[in-house]
Amino acid sequence: MFRLKKNKINNMIDYTRLPAHIGVIMDGNGRWAKKRGLPRSAGHSAGADTLKKIVTECNKMGIKYITVYAFSTENWKRPKDEVDYLMNLLMNYLKDSEKTLAGENVIIKAIGLREELSPQLQDQIKKTEEFTKNNTGITMNIALNYGAREELVRAAKQIASEAVENIINIDEINSDMISSHLYTKDQPDPDFIIRTSGEERLSNFLLWQAAYSELWFCDKLWPDFTIKDLHKSIIDFQNRNRRFGGV
Ligand code: IPE
Ligand code: IPE
Ligand code: MG
Repeated sequence: MFRLKKNKINNMIDYTRLPAHIGVIMDGNGRWAKKRGLPRSAGHSAGADTLKKIVTECNKMGIKYITVYAFSTENWKRPKDEVDYLMNLLMNYLKDSEKTLAGENVIIKAIGLREELSPQLQDQIKKTEEFTKNNTGITMNIALNYGAREELVRAAKQIASEAVENIINIDEINSDMISSHLYTKDQPDPDFIIRTSGEERLSNFLLWQAAYSELWFCDKLWPDFTIKDLHKSIIDFQNRNRRFGGV
């Protein structure tokens, strides 16, 4: 019975019109844990398991890029033990990925201000990126110490220094040049952004790249998000009328 239902949803997806790049704001881990009387860390750990399932499915479906918001530049405001737990979880996630996601042909990249992360985590990021760089499946950007405003400030500084050094002319600065100085350079903008947990905001996620993204919100908390929810969201995306300012 369940299988029948699942197939029904699957059949409604048009695999020739998948989003090229999905962004995911994985929110609600803390509330998921609280509801169960567990520490917030248990929610983060359950959230990491959900992430593996969703990335595996996106890859199977043939989606080429996924950017997942794992830790924002503002998340340092949280209690030290939660931040430490998250950093440790991310480290283990990357290590494990060499056995799991890498074997599934996933390319893993980190986007964000990595210089502020511990040297051990920076080394692990480099290792995982190197380990997966020749894969040919989905590219998974893990937004880690990522904030869109920081990304834009960084781009502005790089462009300004190129102008000062006469490498470029101020008149040449255009939106393509700005895009090419972002962490996501060489990647399509996300056409679809999912946020769980009922919050309807971007929280400093891909502000420039999201100019024309379709936004999709659901009340489910991230650890409860399923492959079926992913399929439903994609069907909704395919039913939207994207106009990009035209008619
Ligand atoms: C999202 O879940 C994960 C991170 C921000 C790291 P939260 O930890 O924000 O969970 P809630 O929003 O408090 O429920
Ligand atoms: C956004 O969630 C960041 C991540 C999912 C990593 P937050 O929980 O930090 O966002 P706010 O504080 O509710 O806006
Ligand atoms: Mg939250």
